[in-house]
Amino acid sequence: MSSSGRRVALVTGSNKGIGYAIVRGLCKQFDGDVILTARSESNGQAAIKQLNGEGLQPIFHQLDITDKASIDSIGQFLKSTYGGLDILVNNAGIAFKVAATEPFPVQAEVTLATNFWGTLNACNTLFPLLRPHARVVNVSSMASQFAAKKCSKELQQKFMAPGLTMANLEQLMTEFVSSTKDGSFKQKGWPESAYGVSKVGVTLMSFVQQKQFNSESREDIIVNACCPGYVDTDMSSHKGTKTIDQGADTPLYLAMLPPNTTSPKGNFVSERKIGSLV
Ligand SMILES: NC(=O)c1ccc[n+]([C@@H]2O[C@H](COP(=O)([O-])OP(=O)(O)OC[C@H]3O[C@@H](n4cnc5c(N)ncnc54)[C@H](OP(=O)(O)O)[C@@H]3O)[C@@H](O)[C@H]2O)c1
Repeated sequence: MSSSGRRVALVTGSNKGIGYAIVRGLCKQFDGDVILTARSESNGQAAIKQLNGEGLQPIFHQLDITDKASIDSIGQFLKSTYGGLDILVNNAGIAFKVAATEPFPVQAEVTLATNFWGTLNACNTLFPLLRPHARVVNVSSMASQFAAKKCSKELQQKFMAPGLTMANLEQLMTEFVSSTKDGSFKQKGWPESAYGVSKVGVTLMSFVQQKQFNSESREDIIVNACCPGYVDTDMSSHKGTKTIDQGADTPLYLAMLPPNTTSPKGNFVSERKIGSLV
């Protein structure tokens, strides 16, 4: 039998940290293939080997979400091997350390390029492959709430406008980065947190994507944003209090939402509970 039509889940940035634990959880809970992805082939293969040691059989594919050719390549792989996609966990992300010496405009550009634009570009290429009942999880952060609360009332109104479109959101994210370059970001109502603003983008992206799915013919596709909590990973310099498996709990819960779930749907979720952005 050809493998085409077999169910499949994909996790971005899953060679380590929370993404790795999400792959481990999906291997145990999801009835289908699980694709572990990494921007580095050798780091990805090392992670596969480690999971094989636990008796789990994820499949490796290279993916760098800032590289259009890499996103296209995994899209082609999914299409030809599975004919679709059932679970997409957009987990890949970066954060500059507090002690980083790169100027703020550089941090803003680089952080948004991965966390916002990379995630959005991956979604735009992979969403046409989603089958009915597919689940999308965008790993955001409570940092999106902290940053949104520090934004001006005018920006907050734009974020929460019922008619917010992806084009509006892309423009807001572009304006944030350009305003860091001419130094006007504070005056324009933005906080001094590249990571926080990038995650405001990821959370809002999820709200807009659900509206788009609701108005199309594919049935029961659900996208949620989430915070995994404060997790012991390289990103948190191992200061996080949760293990990676505890951090993977909410993303896994959202990835495994049963058919025809009505809530959470197009929400921000933390500790399995729906929260608000502002
Ligand atoms: N840790 C926390 O306390 C915490 C809290 C809230 C939210 N989060 C979010 O949770 C997610 C996972 O974070 P983590 O703590 O597990 O961080 P991590 O240990 O640093 O892992 C991040 C993963 O993303 C990958 N990645 C980075 N840039 C990428 C790119 N351009 N293309 C593909 N993969 C890329 C990394 O690959 P390399 O190994 O090649 O670098 C790595 O696999 C992130 O979105 C983060 O913002 C984490």
